[in-house]
Amino acid sequence: MTVTAIIGAQWGDEGKGKLTHLLSADHDIVLRYQGGANAGHTIKDGDKTYRCRLVPSGVLREGVRGLLCDGVVVNPVSLAEELAELRTAGGLRGSLQISRHAHLVLPYHGLQDAFFEQAKGGGALGTTLRGIGPAYADKYFRVGLRAGDMLRPDFGERMKQAARRKNVLFSGYYGQAEEDPDAMWEKVQPAVEQLAPLVADTLALVRTAIRQRERILCEGAQGTLLDIDYGTYPYVTSSHPVSGGAFTGTGINWRDMNSVIGVAKAYCTRVGAGPFPTELPDEIGDMLRERGGEFGTVTGRSRRCGWLDLPLLRYSAELNGFTELALTKVDVLDELDEIPVCVAWEINGQKTEWPDLDIEALEQARPVYKRLPGWQANTCGHRGMADLPQRLKDYVRFIEDFVGVPVRMISVGAETGATVVGA
Ligand code: IMO
Ligand code: MG
Repeated sequence: MTVTAIIGAQWGDEGKGKLTHLLSADHDIVLRYQGGANAGHTIKDGDKTYRCRLVPSGVLREGVRGLLCDGVVVNPVSLAEELAELRTAGGLRGSLQISRHAHLVLPYHGLQDAFFEQAKGGGALGTTLRGIGPAYADKYFRVGLRAGDMLRPDFGERMKQAARRKNVLFSGYYGQAEEDPDAMWEKVQPAVEQLAPLVADTLALVRTAIRQRERILCEGAQGTLLDIDYGTYPYVTSSHPVSGGAFTGTGINWRDMNSVIGVAKAYCTRVGAGPFPTELPDEIGDMLRERGGEFGTVTGRSRRCGWLDLPLLRYSAELNGFTELALTKVDVLDELDEIPVCVAWEINGQKTEWPDLDIEALEQARPVYKRLPGWQANTCGHRGMADLPQRLKDYVRFIEDFVGVPVRMISVGAETGATVVGA
């Protein structure tokens, strides 16, 4: 296999970072193709825990080349901080390069994110406030600054000009005080100087690597249901986490791709606002949150929890073309005597197995559950598929049959080694 993508099948936080780290041992390049520092990928390596926000999880391994490709948005200040944190913790072992085409997230984008959210009041999306939406908006409005611009001598002036234009919007439209562009630049400049040498033509690097049959791992951020077009719009992120995003965001094409691994939790979580048909706003949801440690890596917010939604998982599988599934956090369900999984939705009295992600339909959707028997056994120590409890095997088989994709990995703990890898 030369090119593999790891894609979130749900609303993010599926455990993509852990799997990327596990698989990066057999890869030369680990790249990010979309999103920015809104991602929070936690990796437990021995007694150390690393948290990657923008840096591809692969750079924790010696010899691995990390790439932030064209479709990513890069916040220079937060990236410089993240690299410093990883270096101090002894986790920065691979190298990192940044596409000259990657758009920059600058301080005014963070402000704009916050002002937008405030202005929406009760209709706020619950973004990570990392300026992701405003940075992508500037990209599509064709006024964004890109990583390659950091190499130009007039970059500081251009950034300040952009900040002045944002001030007009902030004061006129949002009634906010103006921010000083010079002070902004003072904050950004050291990071720009530090990162400028990392700017590269990542497309050329990727194409050369593919020609030379190097092994590439694409690390998705967020998840399919947060995709700007295929997610629960407007409660989505501003990029394409789906496998198509790995093509447009890197220069890899569909012929190059050998496998697309969908990562799904054995239940479901969501952070921020938006519809969630199988949500459990009760003590069972609290139990999943406690056992699963469902608190955000980036913002510390508690995650909303609910049961596995199979129509949505099949939707993800079809959109992404999953060749296999990785089922994570299975150990969180170890003690349950019964595990409900959603097998259909009822919308206005009509039963459907193909989910309608239109917001009005979703708000009406009532999950139809099938209750599967729990395995009631500790799975934490398991490493082989064959010796898993029979009821867990049955549970996995049920998911495979419904979704039409084989489950090849089962995660039974946060440590990288706590993974059951099947044939
Ligand atoms: P990883 O990579 C879970 C959610 C936010 C919000 C919506 C829009 O760790 O899986 P944004 O800041 O992107 O404009 O916020 O998307 N969100 C995530 N939820 N995991 C993530 O990343 C997320 N990144 C963004 O909570 O609902
Ligand atoms: Mg996360």
